[in-house]
Amino acid sequence: MGQWKYSVLRAVSLLAITLSLFPAARAQGPSASPTKVIFDTDFAVPPQDDATALMLALKSPELNILGVTTVAGNDTVQRATSDALRVLEIAERTDIPVYEGFNRPWLHEKTEFATKVHGKWWSDEAPPMPPGGFAKKKAESESAVTFLIRAVERNPNEITIIAIGPLTNVATAIRQKAGFAKKVKKIVIMGGAFASLADGSGNVTPNAEFNFWVDPEAAQVVIRSGIPIVLTPLNVTSKTDFSKASYDKIVAADTPLTRLIKQTMGPWVEKHPTMHSQMYDQLTVAALVDPTLVKTKDLYVDVDINHGPDYGTSLGADRVWEGAEGAVKVSVQYDVDANRFLQMFTERITSK
Ligand code: RIB
Ligand code: CA
Repeated sequence: MGQWKYSVLRAVSLLAITLSLFPAARAQGPSASPTKVIFDTDFAVPPQDDATALMLALKSPELNILGVTTVAGNDTVQRATSDALRVLEIAERTDIPVYEGFNRPWLHEKTEFATKVHGKWWSDEAPPMPPGGFAKKKAESESAVTFLIRAVERNPNEITIIAIGPLTNVATAIRQKAGFAKKVKKIVIMGGAFASLADGSGNVTPNAEFNFWVDPEAAQVVIRSGIPIVLTPLNVTSKTDFSKASYDKIVAADTPLTRLIKQTMGPWVEKHPTMHSQMYDQLTVAALVDPTLVKTKDLYVDVDINHGPDYGTSLGADRVWEGAEGAVKVSVQYDVDANRFLQMFTERITSK
């Protein structure tokens, strides 16, 4: 089955996506001060991968999460905000503020195709009640973009953005505030798929990956922004594998977070004991904590924003080619030590 048959794969993938965690690789060394991060996400509770990626970040002392910014993607932005608040409440980390972002991509219009593939980025329906009820704490009144700009201004060259949804918020901050891009230390992005590397099929169209496809114009602005970028494309996530064995290990730990995973994923996993799924956003977080988990290569990258059959496709090569004069050198992950990644994910997610 082609990987671009995203709607078919999605249910399976999201389950696996949700459950990744990593062993305590201490790439930074115990004395380094934690990296300040902003977590920009199209969040939903497990089996959504964003949720277990956040759990991994919460359980990684190498990271200091200054805030969570939400965006429409996997679901509505309203659901992203509501579910992020609830997971932070379950994790007893309500000290981390949540800022709601864009409810739509810049230009991508809802189409019949969009309504049939994964993701409710085109909708404004009310969020479903998360497990255990809506969180007591609400989102901040400041918008995601205003927070991004304010935080980066206050911490020049210190903040790494973890971007694991459509790039609408980040691109808007870049466009809105002159000098913003120059003051961001780094951005690690789950997005893209490169036909020029192995395993480069898309997951929503033949060549486009979901996050880039939802807001291609925003993805292009971020890629061309000059911010140092590390990309986690489908080429590398396709080498990850989450199965029931890992799920069983995680839920055996019995913590508030693993109980949530059991509640939301358990029925599906029990019905599909032979399930295997990719881990997307979790790998972006893990590789930030421990870059030795992945192999990368520098490619000139750009995003197709022509509203045709390749809309949202990422392209990459070791030199600029005709028509891609705007392409920018980016560090692209293409291989992963999948066992060590899964071990790290599992150990951390299950930690008390
Ligand atoms: O293509 C995978 C990406 O799309 C992940 O970030 C997943 O959460 C969805 O947003
Ligand atoms: Ca995501």
